[in-house]
Amino acid sequence: MKTHAALFLLVLVSACTYPKAQQDLSIGKQLSFQRNKGNCLACHVIEEGEAPGNIGPALQHIQTRFTSKADLKVLIWDATQFNSQTSMPPFGKNKILTPAEVDHVVDYIWSLNR
Ligand code: HEC
Repeated sequence: MKTHAALFLLVLVSACTYPKAQQDLSIGKQLSFQRNKGNCLACHVIEEGEAPGNIGPALQHIQTRFTSKADLKVLIWDATQFNSQTSMPPFGKNKILTPAEVDHVVDYIWSLNR
């Protein structure tokens, strides 16, 4: 009986959390592609993104380029910390994106690991 209850709980928990994780990535993707938000495609080739620019490097193999999601967030928050001459806007620092929006973008960009 106890195992049944535990199993039921497990199924319930995964049913609730799995679609949420999926949805989170789609929000970050939308924010990244949207011209009046991240507009990352203006400068970066991103998988499935249309008509990208190439001012910055293609966003791929991200988990080999950054040691952690936190590191990636530091760059997206304020790329001028790494390169004071960068053309990449400081999305968090200059409030182009809200802190919650930056987190969605970071989740999505981190997933670009191919
Ligand atoms: C106006 C151009 C521009 C825009 C817009 C832009 N970037 Fe960049 N980005 C760059 C440039 C240029 C670099 C190369 C490093 C540097 O010069 O700082 C870069 C580097 C990066 C890197 C490091 C890539 C690597 O492999 O080292 C990441 C990650 C990144 N950008 C993410 C983003 C995200 C996410 C967005 C949108 C929210 C974005 N960028 C928008 C210009 C841009």
